[in-house]
Amino acid sequence: MATEHEDDFKDEKNPRPLDEDDIALLKTYGLGPYSTSIKKAEKEIKEMAKKVNDLCGIKESDTGLAAPSQWDLVSDKQMMQEEQPLQVARCTKIINPNSEDAKYVINVKQIAKFVVGLGDKVSPTDIEEGMRVGVDRNKYQIQIPLPPKIDPSVTMMTVEEKPDVTYNDVGGCKEQIEKMREVVELPMLHPEKFVKLGIDPPKGVLCYGPPGTGKTLLARAVANRTDACFIRVIGSELVQKYVGEGARMVRELFQMARSKKACIVFFDEVDAIGGARFDDGVGGDNEVQRTMLEIVNQLDGFDARGNIKVLMATNRPDTLDPALLRPGRLDRKVEFGLPDLESRTQIFKIHTRTMNCERDIRFELLARLCPNSTGADIRSVCTEAGMYAIRARRKTVTEKDFLDAVNKVIKGYQKFSATPKYMVYN
Ligand SMILES: Nc1ncnc2c1ncn2[C@@H]1O[C@H](COP(=O)(O)OP(=O)(O)OP(=O)(O)O)[C@@H](O)[C@H]1O
Ligand SMILES: [Mg+2]
Repeated sequence: MATEHEDDFKDEKNPRPLDEDDIALLKTYGLGPYSTSIKKAEKEIKEMAKKVNDLCGIKESDTGLAAPSQWDLVSDKQMMQEEQPLQVARCTKIINPNSEDAKYVINVKQIAKFVVGLGDKVSPTDIEEGMRVGVDRNKYQIQIPLPPKIDPSVTMMTVEEKPDVTYNDVGGCKEQIEKMREVVELPMLHPEKFVKLGIDPPKGVLCYGPPGTGKTLLARAVANRTDACFIRVIGSELVQKYVGEGARMVRELFQMARSKKACIVFFDEVDAIGGARFDDGVGGDNEVQRTMLEIVNQLDGFDARGNIKVLMATNRPDTLDPALLRPGRLDRKVEFGLPDLESRTQIFKIHTRTMNCERDIRFELLARLCPNSTGADIRSVCTEAGMYAIRARRKTVTEKDFLDAVNKVIKGYQKFSATPKYMVYN
């Protein structure tokens, strides 16, 4: 024991210098097994990210502009000066088409007509008669073919994202769904059936019924199902400030629809523009009526087998102009009535599907307690039941909550119910 102590003491007095192995060993203290390779990978990732950022250039920002430090105003200005804007012209005629020396007659609005050639970047197959084209300002050569002029507000009406409503989300309404699908899907999927029989398929459907019975919902389900382009127009969007603007929008809308392979146009709340014509006694003519007449005109204009279908929805079919509704324009009228007992049960089940409910809730009983109520009412009942549960700080909704909600919504809000009023109108 004693000698050991002495040895230690001696070592402490004149310590042995660390050799290389010791230093290497010391350096590894506190390091995990893969520390160095992880460090290396991290560095590489950083470098790679920097490279990607450099290549992408513009970073996402609120305004969509690059960071001011990246602006190069001088060269931008120079580029703008070199590159002159093109002028819009209409190609009215092609002389000697499909030959080497084809020439194009263009009409620059309010300037003149010219006979010109093609620019370097355009091929002769791109240009057709009656097309809008971009021409340069010196030689008026055609530089770029342009799409037809369509109001951006009309283009915006196209529904691109499919709504997340399917036919399964529509409770009841079996007959209505069937009728709608017959008109919308059958002619698009099996046009030969109609050709064989020699009849024209119906052009359009009018959906009518009390508020909240699922008209808009069903139209959205149709939009979800179909691969066709779906254009949704709210009636009031077509009411414009200047005379003739609304009619022009309708024209451009149908022009756009015709350019698609298959297209469904849905006019929601069509009573905003489709009211019956009347004389207002002042002698002035009504802009809204003119818009409606343009719709009538366009409905006549397209071929029934052409793949445009028109759906309309309204609460007040009695106010619509008879011309709009006559067979040949909107052949089908689908009434959306109040849901019956079975449908109400189904609607309850649809709206509670995502809710955290107790098991064995008697939806049938609840449906029985809501006579003469619409789908929207039932949805409101479900939401209200959820509110009761939240108030009581519970995580699940019980049947009692539903019963309370029925009392509150169906009985309490009876004076707001639209159904009796609607019954009077029809
Ligand atoms: N048959 C139904 N099945 C399931 N939910 C329904 C049904 N009918 C209505 N609803 C619910 O009511 C809501 C409102 O319905 P919707 O927007 O279709 O009414 P609407 O018939 O277009 O009324 P309005 O004539 O006032 O525009 C829907 O979002 C849906 O949640
Ligand atoms: Mg609606």
